[in-house]
Amino acid sequence: MAGRIPKHFIDDLIARTDIVDVIDSRVRLKKTGKNYSACCPFHNEKSPSFTVAPDKQFYYCFGCGAKGNVISFLMEYDNLEFVDAIEELANINGVTVEREQVANPQQERAQAVQIKQDFEVMSQAAEFYQQQLQQAPEKVKDYIKLRGLSADIVEQFQIGYSPDEWDALLKNYGQSRQSASQLADLGMLIEKDGKAGFYDRFRDRLMFPILDRRGKCIGFGGRVIGDGTPKYLNSPETRIFHKGRELYGLYQARNANRGLDRLLVVEGYMDVVALFQAGVTYAVASLGTATTSDHIKLMMRSTSEIVCCYDGDNAGRKAAWRTLENALPSLVDGIQIKFVFLPDGEDPDSYIKQFGKEKFEQLIDKAQDFVSFFYQELYRQIGQSEGEFARSKLSQLAQPLIDQMPDSEYKHAINETLSIKLKRSVSSNKADKIAQAKAKQAKFTSNTSRKVTPVRLAVALLLEQPHLVKHLANMSDSQLQALAKMDEAGIDFFVDLLLFVRSKQNCSAAQILEHWRGTDKEKIVSQLMMWEHHVQTENIEVVFLDSIEKILSLFVTKRKAMLQTKAKMNLISEQEKQEYLALLKIK
Ligand code: UTP
Ligand code: MN
Repeated sequence: MAGRIPKHFIDDLIARTDIVDVIDSRVRLKKTGKNYSACCPFHNEKSPSFTVAPDKQFYYCFGCGAKGNVISFLMEYDNLEFVDAIEELANINGVTVEREQVANPQQERAQAVQIKQDFEVMSQAAEFYQQQLQQAPEKVKDYIKLRGLSADIVEQFQIGYSPDEWDALLKNYGQSRQSASQLADLGMLIEKDGKAGFYDRFRDRLMFPILDRRGKCIGFGGRVIGDGTPKYLNSPETRIFHKGRELYGLYQARNANRGLDRLLVVEGYMDVVALFQAGVTYAVASLGTATTSDHIKLMMRSTSEIVCCYDGDNAGRKAAWRTLENALPSLVDGIQIKFVFLPDGEDPDSYIKQFGKEKFEQLIDKAQDFVSFFYQELYRQIGQSEGEFARSKLSQLAQPLIDQMPDSEYKHAINETLSIKLKRSVSSNKADKIAQAKAKQAKFTSNTSRKVTPVRLAVALLLEQPHLVKHLANMSDSQLQALAKMDEAGIDFFVDLLLFVRSKQNCSAAQILEHWRGTDKEKIVSQLMMWEHHVQTENIEVVFLDSIEKILSLFVTKRKAMLQTKAKMNLISEQEKQEYLALLKIK
């Protein structure tokens, strides 16, 4: 396998690319003032709200919120993984991707060859099962009819049949010891006790190939024809198949939709396929395991709304709660996670067959939001929602969960709701309503009316014109570090940003965005990049310097107050005393 792509290579690549050219070759752009615009390629619209800012090398859609630099654009528009987007961009620029040296190149190369062969073998197996379905016994074809699967959907999901024999796959693909043992490594054959040979793992089953994000087959789920146990047999974990990181149907969902507005997580293979056939082309299934935090992260890269769908029974609620717990550490603003429960005894497959697409989607539209499910389940666990006991138990159960959440509007809303629930003396219903209204309000204010603080303004202007950093050349790193410790929202990020921009020559906004990709600062960077600060271009420098002055004077005031308190308590050191006297002279 190739080594990592060095950061500096990605930086250079972004620096030498013009995002306008790249986007314009895919979506016709129109010049509007200093920016370019078009109808957004990521959602349906009639008037253009998709904007490309050449100075920031950044795009933003005021309609759907899609945003990012040239790499994000390629990832979203061309449906590429990060590394593939870099390859594509390098291609556009006519350069070859640089790779870091790997520790053991020979071993890495051998591994890469093996993985390539693994994919080939799995794709042969998938094809083999598809062929076998053509000549399968009547009972298999009848079963497919019974489940209502159309020929098209069978083809689209590459569904096949493993013959009722011990050696169908073995005979065809496992002739040599080497190929048989490879098939066994991939979970397709099982070695007999005493190593006396191999036999087929999957026999007399309907075969659902599990595809990875590039559409390569990495494993199978095999359903028994009719009744029998186990109902589903799944590929074991192998060197190319990791259940916790793959979702059945994601490849097809991404292919069928340009920009996924929503992903629906269901429990079964058959659910995904039946929903797709009925026109709900955005369902995925975790593979006979709980939905893991890797699954959630994977989905977050493709969509901004994740609806988890479960049976209405006890087991379904438990599964939903586990998903919620697994999601806690990965929650980020702007991505909604919701829960929906089907009537008892139904699964998505049976529901959509009975009630149709429209009714099904109506149900999904009414999914319960994260915060409300969070408290509903906690109260269910406590067994009551009134009284001192319920209140103390609630905070006891909620706190460790809240602690797992990164700083986000989710956390804010859950905290807010908790404090209201703990304080309330009014009837629970009313308090719930107030809590919900407050949580909504908190969400609203933090989303739309960004307060103009000097720090926020300085960050936004620096993002827009990174060269402004030259005005701060005489501030030493240690001075900046002291500044970063000030008790003022965003100051630590401002200092990080300064240090980063300072370490680069001619740093662009796109490079900055790239640096913070995948971190908890990514969102604030992109928000402030597109923030309408209403500072006229010719005034930017003056306003920036003014903000810096305000920040420094705030720093001086706060520091003075702190030293004064220390002095009063006789805790001040000689050095701090000197500092205090010096500060007194400033203002
Ligand atoms: P269900 O038992 O709910 O079956 O299992 P289903 O999806 O409704 O299947 P059909 O409609 O009868 O064909 C849900 C999921 O749990 C996993 C599979 O991923 C299945 O799709 N499972 C279930 C197994 O892995 N093994 C089993 O034996 C049963
Ligand atoms: Mn089912």
